[in-house]
Amino acid sequence: MKTIVLSPQFDKSAVKTAANLLLQGEVVGMPTETVYGLAANALNGEAVAKIFRAKGRPQDNPLIVHIADFDQIYSLCPAVPPQAKALAEAFWPGPLTMIVPKGGCIPDEVSCGLDTVGIRLPSHPLARDLIRTAGVPLAAPSANTSGRPSTTTAEHVLRDMDGKIAAILDGGPCGVGVESTVITLALDKPRLLRPGGITLEQLRSVLGEVEVDRALYEKIGDDVKVSAPGMKYRHYAPKANLVVVEGEMEEVTAWIRQTAAARQQEGKKVGIIATEETKESYPEGDVKVAGTRADEATIASSLYGILREFDGDGVDEIYSEAFASGGIGAAVMNRLLKAAGHQVIRIT
Ligand code: TXA
Ligand code: MG
Repeated sequence: MKTIVLSPQFDKSAVKTAANLLLQGEVVGMPTETVYGLAANALNGEAVAKIFRAKGRPQDNPLIVHIADFDQIYSLCPAVPPQAKALAEAFWPGPLTMIVPKGGCIPDEVSCGLDTVGIRLPSHPLARDLIRTAGVPLAAPSANTSGRPSTTTAEHVLRDMDGKIAAILDGGPCGVGVESTVITLALDKPRLLRPGGITLEQLRSVLGEVEVDRALYEKIGDDVKVSAPGMKYRHYAPKANLVVVEGEMEEVTAWIRQTAAARQQEGKKVGIIATEETKESYPEGDVKVAGTRADEATIASSLYGILREFDGDGVDEIYSEAFASGGIGAAVMNRLLKAAGHQVIRIT
């Protein structure tokens, strides 16, 4: 299959072409404000099955369904919980996915046998235009090969999906850079399953109490039952071995500098993830600046691109400074720790 890249900037019918492919049961790469998605008609089980094949995604990991207008939720979920309305009012369109009881029209290929479905109303104008033009809700996981860093540009999507999907709608780089926040409203109490663009603090400001799933910051054993099937798989991993270093900033930078120098002496190619505040501490090695600690949203938006660049550079090892754990920093740390397979060095 030849994968075509559709650029709305140069081609006025790009969205229409993408929508037609979706209605023919094909898979299309779609920009959203978080990361690119691999979209298919959520009501067509055979089309959705193609997403799993293109990604190499485990069959028990359900997909999020994307809608363009709030009222579309009623066709997917017969009994919309009142909390969903309150959250939608505050944060939709935007980077928030709500898990709710599912309606009968949702094929098993989307929900993987669960009686719930994740729904999201993205704010990216092209995503909403595509959903409206297709006239159907779109199931879409992140547009990466399973286990690899998510994709935040059309070039990233092409690298992973060339020859495997019909088309990619090029919307330029994504803004947020990490996936949506996932909250379930299908348990006794609302519970955060994945930190993302909408912070825990923001969710609590609307709902009051919100539990945090303990699987978020711990390494999960093989025998543990998790709330979101995606929690148990290795995610976002670069090709190199990635280690996160935590502690007082001066000690962290000194440790990384010394370790990187020693490893380079041994012939290893070393990458370092630094910030504007610390970049001068690393005179050698392949140093990439993720953003500034003064605004951790900048780090979120560049993280996956940096992990992918290190793959291109062919480094053997990556050392990353740890980031703050509040606000959007919680999402950054969650992704970084998973990408590192929870290899953390604490300098005390
Ligand atoms: O920002 C995003 O959410 C992106 C863009 C494309 O919208 N999508 C995305 O999808 O990140 P994906 O498939 O990579 O991650 C969805 C996560 C997975 O961990 C999955 O297990 C969980 O949401 N999930 C989906 N449906 C669920 C359900 N019914 N119950 C529990 N977890 C669910
Ligand atoms: Mg994903």
